[in-house]
Amino acid sequence: MYSTSSMAAPTSVVVLDRGNNTTCTINLHGATVVSWRVNNQEQLFVSKQAVFDGKKPIRGGIPFVFPQFGPWNFGPQHGFARIMRWHLEKPPERLHTGDVEAIFSIMDNEFTRSVWNYPFRLSYRLILREKELHFNIGVYNPSKELTFSFNLLLHTYFKVPDVRRSQVTGLHGCTFIDKTRDGAMYQETRDVVTINEWTDRIYQNTPQEHIITNVVSGRKMRIQKYNFPDTVIWNPWVDKAREIADFGDDEFPNMICVEAGHVSTPVILLPGTAFEASQILQVM
Ligand code: BG6
Repeated sequence: MYSTSSMAAPTSVVVLDRGNNTTCTINLHGATVVSWRVNNQEQLFVSKQAVFDGKKPIRGGIPFVFPQFGPWNFGPQHGFARIMRWHLEKPPERLHTGDVEAIFSIMDNEFTRSVWNYPFRLSYRLILREKELHFNIGVYNPSKELTFSFNLLLHTYFKVPDVRRSQVTGLHGCTFIDKTRDGAMYQETRDVVTINEWTDRIYQNTPQEHIITNVVSGRKMRIQKYNFPDTVIWNPWVDKAREIADFGDDEFPNMICVEAGHVSTPVILLPGTAFEASQILQVM
């Protein structure tokens, strides 16, 4: 039903196996989901140049962004959760429905305290269903007096045969911060968004659901999100792809990042309280 393997300690992976060649593989480095296969069809993009050294973030799959989205004066871009080794809190277990679940966690340690001096606990529960992958995230502030604020985002890289032929729904009318234009704000006028150039946008107050068309095998992918007000759309395109060492020059047509997050405003977490957010991906 599941396996953990460790060639070298930092590269351990956990596999959720639902049968029928439907699996989900999580690398404990960052609790990065590195593969999600539905009936043997890979749904996630991972670069051929991705580095699995237990240090760098993994280029592809679903890196976990916390407590910072983007550049950070105090620590690494997109925070530290994606480069920490996570604890397997609950090994994969089959539920009575046949679905398989596992729980991962991290908490503050010497390294996190050196860049971000707060106590925290994070739990990440994944459930693999027949055609769905569920993500439940809990962030807890165990402090008696300290309030902290953070960003949270699931940096999902979807695999697509040609990004130019995929459309993303649910963005019409939303304001967005365009990071390719020095953070200028615009409003989306298109019914569906397609990508034909370098794209790096934070759409704000997006609806709970997006659909991406033309993912693998010409199918559709449904994204449902809760407590994630923002949706980031990213593709580096030709020139930026060349600047990214762990991304192949010719790979940009085969991925689209549609990222559910709480990033354009921070989450503020009072002492002794918890924040929860979740996402469901569904192959339609
Ligand atoms: C996106 C950001 O979410 O992640 C982009 O909006 C960034 O600005 C991209 O370039 C990739 O980031 P990284 O740190 O994984 O190279």
